[in-house]
Formats: sequence, C-alpha cells, structure tokens
Amino acid sequence: MTDPSMLLPMVAGYIPAKVLQAIAEFGVPDHLAGGPRTAAELAGLTGTHGPSLTRVLRAAAVFGVVSAEENKYSLTGLGELLRSDVPGSLREFAVLTGGHEAWRSWGELGHSLRTGEPGFDRAFGTGWFDHLDAEPGTAARFARAMAAATALAAPDIVEHCDLTGVGTLADVGGGNGLLLSRLLVAHPELKSVLADSAAGSTGAAEVLREAGVADRCEVVPTDFFTSVPAGADAYLLKSIVHDWPDERAGTILASCRAAMRPDSVLLLVELVLPGPGDPVPNVQAVMSDLNLMVGTGGRERTAAELTALLDGNGFALDEVTPCGQSGFSVLRARPVR
Ligand SMILES: C[S@@+](CC[C@H](N)C(=O)[O-])C[C@H]1O[C@@H](n2cnc3c(N)ncnc32)[C@H](O)[C@@H]1O
Repeated sequence: MTDPSMLLPMVAGYIPAKVLQAIAEFGVPDHLAGGPRTAAELAGLTGTHGPSLTRVLRAAAVFGVVSAEENKYSLTGLGELLRSDVPGSLREFAVLTGGHEAWRSWGELGHSLRTGEPGFDRAFGTGWFDHLDAEPGTAARFARAMAAATALAAPDIVEHCDLTGVGTLADVGGGNGLLLSRLLVAHPELKSVLADSAAGSTGAAEVLREAGVADRCEVVPTDFFTSVPAGADAYLLKSIVHDWPDERAGTILASCRAAMRPDSVLLLVELVLPGPGDPVPNVQAVMSDLNLMVGTGGRERTAAELTALLDGNGFALDEVTPCGQSGFSVLRARPVR
C-alpha cells in the first residue's frame, strides 16, 4: 500500500531550502567556525531574535547541518559547506536559491504554467539579467553563487573538455572566470578571453589572480547579443544558451559565429535533458529546467533540441561528451555554410 507520509517531505520541501538560506544569510555557520555556541550567543552575534533562532536551529539540526549537545550547536560536515570561507563553499548558492528573487519567481509558477512567461518578470517587472545589470550587489552575489555551483562540476568539465590544438579560448558569458581559471591551470600554454557583461564578470580579476593565471586572460566587457571578441580558436559557452529561449540563444550563437574563423570550434557545456525513452533521467537537468522556466525564460534542452538549435544557426554538432558525474556534457560544434 502507498505510504502517504512519503508525500509530506515533498509537499513541505520549501522548508529546508528556506532554513538553509536563512542560517547562511545570517552567517550562523561562520559564527560556529571556531567551535560550539549556544543559541543565545548566536542570536547576539547575528542580530536575530533568540527564541526564533532556537527554533530555526532545531530544524537545521533535523536537516543535518548542525548538531546540538548540552545546549550548544556545532557544525556538521554538511554545515561546514555553508561557511563563507571554506573551499567549495555553497553559502552563496544557498543564499541565492532560497533568496527573495528565487522565492518570488517560484511564487509565480502558476503564471508561468498559464502563459509560458518567466515568473521573475511578472514578480519584478523586468528580466533577470536586466535586474542584475541594475543591481551590482545582486550581480556579484549571482556570480559567486554560479561560480560555487560551477566549481562542483569543474573537475569533470576540465577533464572532458578537449582543448587539443586550442591556443586561445574565449569564454563567452564566463562569469567571474572560475571555470576558465581551472582550464588555464590545466593547460599552461593556453591564452584566453573572458567575455561577459561588466556586472557578470564582477570579481573576475581576483579569481584569476588567485589562480595565478591573470597574465593569460584578458577580461573584455561584452554584450553577447551584439558581438563577442573575434579570432579565438575555441568559443566556450557554459550554461549560456540554457538561459534563453531559442531565438535569443540563436542571436548569441550568431555573435559567436561572426567572431569565429572557419576553423574555430564551439564548445557548449550544458546539462542535457533526457530524450524520450532515455533510460537515465538527468535529475539536475530536469530541476534546472524549471528554475529557468520561472527565472530567465530559458530552458534545458535534449540532445536533439541542441542539435536543432545549432543547425538552425550555422553550426554542425560533431560530438557530445558527457562529463562524468557532473551531469554536464560538452557539445563540440563547427561553423558551416
Ligand atoms: C548562468 S550564468 C553562467 C556563468 C558561467 N558560464 C558559469 O557557468 O559559471 C550566465 C552568464 O551570462 C552572462 N550574461 C547575461 N547576459 C549577457 C550579455 N548580454 N552579454 C554577456 N554576458 C551576459 C551573465 O552575466 C552570466 O555570467
């Protein structure tokens, strides 16, 4: 017989996301970095209402990010990842995922379902990337959150992204350069261009400097709907075409095509949606697809849909290389016609 209680964690699935967002945003994990503290101490340090924080911490303990002993809270291994100062920190990602932009966008899921329009636009009266252009603080937070998520996948992408024969790589919409810096470390002869909007590449100088690769990367403020830097051997677009509906994605591909030499290659890095009858669903792609539906108006695509998008914009797809456990694939294409 079906166990109805199995439905409850899903029905109330917003609670863990919101609890993690709140403790990350208020800096609770950072205040526990030096050792256990009471709820009253944490309330004083975070400027929160003690009895309410106690209740939130109790839930955080249920979700396994803190543990409680003798009235004091400590971080678990999972909770450590919500500190701001640890390698692989997911703090920014937790803050963004449960934050008010995502919250209000998902609140408009019904609107997206009825109209096909992004919930974000309905809630905020503007598009997500226009919102970021107008709010540098949010743009910087988004760049850090994206970089935190990309960092998880970066080792697999670096391993599976074949840059044989590539002397210059343009990372189009490369954000704060996290993935590009990893590729530059892995390929010591490689030179590069990071092409993103001024808001999107916030923090790139620091990321590239810390990785010791700043001398091999030029950061070029770019609007990829107009043009991208010309003449690179390869053009990398990770999680770019997925942000946009087909027509807008086609304009980005056209900008790349115009900048490419006939022998340049295009490398799309995307979560590929399962096709009909695909035996292994890519859960990450399915979830991300919904985030894009309510957020930017973009979509994840099946291999067939990506092939058609490339084909319709002057590219031929040569190869799809899955990148290990990351869920991403590298789609290698060349300009035709
Ligand atoms: C989903 S993020 C991907 C970032 C990075 N490639 C990654 O995967 O970590 C999309 C990127 O597209 C950039 N972007 C959005 N509109 C742009 C535009 N018109 N021109 C250039 N970059 C843009 C954003 O600033 C952001 O860095």
